[in-house]
Amino acid sequence: MIDIRRVGVLTGGGDAPGLNAVIRAVVKCAVNQGLECVGLEDSFDGLMEPGRSRPLTPRDVTGILRIGGTILGTTNRGNPFEYPVDGGTRDYSARCIDTFHALGLHALIVIGGDGTLTIASQFFRKGVPIVAVPKTIDNDIVGTTSTFGFDSAVSFATDAIDRLHTTAQSHHRIMVVEVMGRYTGWIALTAGVAGGADVILIPEIPYDLELAAARLKERERWGARFSVVVVAEGAKPKGGQTSVLEPAQHGHAERLGGIGARVAEGLERLTGRESRVVILGHLQRGGAPTAVDRILATRFGGKAVEFVRNGQFGMMVASRPPDIVPVPFQEVVGKTRMVPLDGDLMQTARTLGIAFGD
Ligand code: F6P
Repeated sequence: MIDIRRVGVLTGGGDAPGLNAVIRAVVKCAVNQGLECVGLEDSFDGLMEPGRSRPLTPRDVTGILRIGGTILGTTNRGNPFEYPVDGGTRDYSARCIDTFHALGLHALIVIGGDGTLTIASQFFRKGVPIVAVPKTIDNDIVGTTSTFGFDSAVSFATDAIDRLHTTAQSHHRIMVVEVMGRYTGWIALTAGVAGGADVILIPEIPYDLELAAARLKERERWGARFSVVVVAEGAKPKGGQTSVLEPAQHGHAERLGGIGARVAEGLERLTGRESRVVILGHLQRGGAPTAVDRILATRFGGKAVEFVRNGQFGMMVASRPPDIVPVPFQEVVGKTRMVPLDGDLMQTARTLGIAFGD
């Protein structure tokens, strides 16, 4: 076992239910095995200057298992290798590495999505010993069968769809629910099936709204006077573009949104039935993690400490049921895990009669 005594931990990118559960597991497992923990604030910004960090003891993480968000703060703005400054970018990576040494750290555990993993692999290539923990409600990280945060987002979205079902039925309306899912339709598909949606539109399948409307008209023929449609924010029409709310700027990816309204408007026109749209937005990222996410986050945190103690750096902890395994950064970075169109859930959804607009 190599000589590691002090470990830094940070959370990067958009928050997800379960971040605090990972931090808690990292701190408890590390301290119980004789290591010290240091929390870095606001993602890699916490490495820009020594003052943006604090020691973390089991006392600091008591009671946070069930709390959403992250006690360390996060940001998806600044990659230290291309930090936005005065309309341009600057490379602050050397400054971060200096801070890493100044804090007496021997290893870093970073908890984040694809952006954070990219930065982690850049630092790893510069010699920083790093282990990563995958996080995103979108569930689109390659190499792991699931990410924590996803189950909580799906549970929330399913509950929302259930509620919208009763109002759709009462008012004989089409209710369109826009869920998160920038590049992939994991939340839309899973919550859509769990909530009994009639149409699900996902980024993996550019849609033809007339085909989606045909499904709703078919329902009318057997007497259903309402429908529920789930749309991932990254869904787009055949030959069309994703709906962008705000263009990319200052190192921040473009903000998606608005596709739900376009779909609701189009379906109202094509079916003659009144439609409404609901955007679930950041509600999907807030609140307490589900039991499934707490367990996954806790197992990820414990394994990350084990990898650090074994010197297994440049690795992401990954779920491969029944195990948690190491996956090298280069197998993960820059890739997106799409919904498999021939997968079991897709097949079942189609057999159920759910339309995807294709
Ligand atoms: O990556 C997770 C995610 O929830 C995406 O689905 C969404 O596009 C994005 O975060 C929004 O993030 P923010 O509003 O924090 O920029």
